[in-house]
This record gives sequence, C-alpha cells and structure tokens, in this order.
Amino acid sequence: MSFKEPTSTQVFFTVAIGHTFGSFFWKNYVKSLNLNGNERILEYGSGSGALSRHMAPILLKGGGSLTCVDISQKWMGTIQKRMDKYPNVEFKLGTIFDLDIPDNSYDTVVIHYVLHDIDSNLREGIVMALSRKLKKGGKVYIREPLADNHGMPAAEIRELMINAGLNEIDFKIDNVRIVGKSTEAIFEK
Ligand SMILES: C[S@@+](CC[C@H](N)C(=O)[O-])C[C@H]1O[C@@H](n2cnc3c(N)ncnc32)[C@H](O)[C@@H]1O
Repeated sequence: MSFKEPTSTQVFFTVAIGHTFGSFFWKNYVKSLNLNGNERILEYGSGSGALSRHMAPILLKGGGSLTCVDISQKWMGTIQKRMDKYPNVEFKLGTIFDLDIPDNSYDTVVIHYVLHDIDSNLREGIVMALSRKLKKGGKVYIREPLADNHGMPAAEIRELMINAGLNEIDFKIDNVRIVGKSTEAIFEK
C-alpha cells in the first residue's frame, strides 16, 4: 500500500485509544524490551507516539535518547505536540533514505506495526538501511500484524532481517490486544 497521510478522524481515534485504554498494552510491551535506559534508540514509523511516549521517560532517566522517524507530516505534528517535554527526543520527518542519520550510531531500532504498511518492494531497502544505522551488537525489535488483509507473512520478516545481516534472537507469534495475531521478534547485528 502506498503511503497516504491519515485523516483527522484516524488521528483522533488513534490518540484517543492508544493513549488511554491502549496505553497499558503499549507500556507493557516497552517494559518487555528491558531497556537499560542509556540506549540510543531509533523508532521507525513512530506515528502518534504509542511506544515512544513510554520509552522517552526511561531513556531520560538513564541518559539515553530517542529519534522518532516518520514519513507523515500529520503524525509528526501529533507526536511532537505530545512529546515536546522530553529534551532527549528528536523528531525527523522523512524516510530512512532522506535523513542525515550516521551509520553504526544506534543501539536499538524499534519497528512497531510499520513494515506491513509499506509497499513490499520497498521493504528490503528500508530494512537494510535501518540495519546500517545499528551499531555492532545493536538490536531490532519488531512487531507486525499477520492478518491476510492487513499484515505481512512472518516468514517475510525473518527473510528481510537475515538478508540485512541481522541474526535472530527471538521470534514468536502472539495474540496482541487491539491488533490481533502478530509477529513479535528480536534480531541482532
Ligand atoms: C500503523 S502506524 C504505527 C505507528 C506506531 N509505530 C504505533 O505503533 O502506534 C505506521 C506508521 O508508519 C509510518 N510510515 C509509513 N511508511 C513509512 C516510511 N516509508 N518511512 C517512515 N515511516 C513510515 C506512518 O506514517 C505511520 O505513522
């Protein structure tokens, strides 16, 4: 599916659900990442900040930082408004190819329900570029939905990551509240 800016209704409901009822589930996922707090993290496709807003305070406490990357002006405006209190968070509008982000500079890349929304012929280049941004030993945490009508095959995620030089640490299929059956995986450079 080609990129389209969200409608105002989509933004309204995403924020209303994700930042209230859904917040509990996103917070638990962030907890499960066991962050040290001192990492440099890049969240690709950060959207309204469903995860970013739970990672930022952990990183602020531990001396880490967060780079939120998104192609959408509307989502970028939303997340900036909601997270401008964090001095350790920067916002970059564009795709991974447009931005002046040095290679080998991040400890962690988080991809949370993003790749399935991107044209399948663009995914490989994006994952390779993201892998280049990671330091040696850095990790990718990825969750993507599995549904036939709105998702991507688990096997494709594995293939994309391995082709980008990443090693599998954990790979599971989980029933995620709100979203449904999802691939949840960790890879390491
Ligand atoms: C389903 S939303 C998920 C947002 C957020 N990660 C979350 O879990 O709430 C997908 C996000 O990916 C962004 N996106 C789509 N294609 C992108 C691309 N090529 N580069 C960067 N961001 C992209 C969209 O603008 C949107 O914010």
